[in-house]
Amino acid sequence: MATLDLINVQKSFGPTKILHDISISMADGEFLVLVGPSGCGKSTLMNIIAGLEEPSEGQLRLDGHDITQLAPAERNISMVFQSYALYPNMTVAKNIEFPLAMRKVEKSKRAERVQSVAKLLQIEHLLERKPRQLSGGQRQRVAIGRALAREPRLYLFDEPLSNLDAQLRLDMRTEIKKLHQRLGATIVYVTHDQIEAMTLATRIAVMKGGVLQQLGSPYEVYNRPANIFVAGFMGSPRMNLIKARLAQNGSGLALHIQTGTRPPVRFELPNVPSAMSAHIGAEVIAGIRAEAVNLAHASMVAGPTQRAFDARVEVIEPTGADTLVVLDLGGHEFTVRLEPDVSLKPGQDARFFVDLAKLVCFDAGTERLIE
Ligand SMILES: Nc1ncnc2c1ncn2[C@@H]1O[C@H](COP(=O)(O)OP(=O)(O)O)[C@@H](O)[C@H]1O
Ligand SMILES: [Mg+2]
Repeated sequence: MATLDLINVQKSFGPTKILHDISISMADGEFLVLVGPSGCGKSTLMNIIAGLEEPSEGQLRLDGHDITQLAPAERNISMVFQSYALYPNMTVAKNIEFPLAMRKVEKSKRAERVQSVAKLLQIEHLLERKPRQLSGGQRQRVAIGRALAREPRLYLFDEPLSNLDAQLRLDMRTEIKKLHQRLGATIVYVTHDQIEAMTLATRIAVMKGGVLQQLGSPYEVYNRPANIFVAGFMGSPRMNLIKARLAQNGSGLALHIQTGTRPPVRFELPNVPSAMSAHIGAEVIAGIRAEAVNLAHASMVAGPTQRAFDARVEVIEPTGADTLVVLDLGGHEFTVRLEPDVSLKPGQDARFFVDLAKLVCFDAGTERLIE
């Protein structure tokens, strides 16, 4: 187990800068998930940590020791790739044992490690098979087993579930989380799937275009996204992002949402961060999660941070566990998450409550969270 520090890591391929000044410090036992769209530099950063690529600038420290110049084999880091990279002619047992044999680990010790890893991953009955005789999920387990057998200080997973079908991905996701809970290992895990990121991570690093956008707990990244990119990328459905204007309202503030031909919707804001006052009169982007809205019932009294509004129901999407309803809020599409048995009809007008304790606002110019 280990701590990992990435200090001002940069990478260019020729004239193209792929990674811009990435600094991340990981505590022992952390499960850090790097998430971002395809091509944002996740694999490049992983390859730099593994030692397969050299950074153009910056330093890497494992347990406080500078490893920037060490060869991959000297780093004691295991990497599991999307493509498994199993040796086709070796049995499962040999595949798992191979990195140990390379390191000249004693034979009896090797057999012991293979057995204990196979038991942990429940692949004992597969040890004598060749990779082609395995399903995708079984191959993935073997690839993970090979990484575990070495007992490295740090595990790297680069999109390990991307080649699996949907149900198996969910199962393996749970397996990997269990594994982390059992081993307490330090893990860096790459995915382009924001749900995978949310469910696995102790901390998430959101990247875009080689720039670290936000580093925080799943809760922070979801509820307090650092900018509009993170707000739109994390969470399904996406956070509702609506242009609005901040106005003085007595001693407090109010949010005015322009609504085309209808009168603007106006929300009095409860306990807003003081930084918002600097934006009075300015355009902001209001961010509201789908689950911050409820259908108003006749007998309901709004809570201190709840505000009522009227909107037209456009589309109803039952998911089973809940119902996503797309509203037309005076020309803005606004998706809300309601009860599974909600009785609304497309075209109908209805009244809703939004909980503004969960509202975030972004600067319309810089697109950064106002906090
Ligand atoms: N060896 C290389 N030479 C030149 N460009 C590269 C090389 N490896 C990756 N890139 C470029 O770097 C960018 C980031 O790639 P990558 O790290 O694989 O992204 P991700 O894993 O997030 O999808 C891409 O634009 C890719 O084309
Ligand atoms: Mg990649």
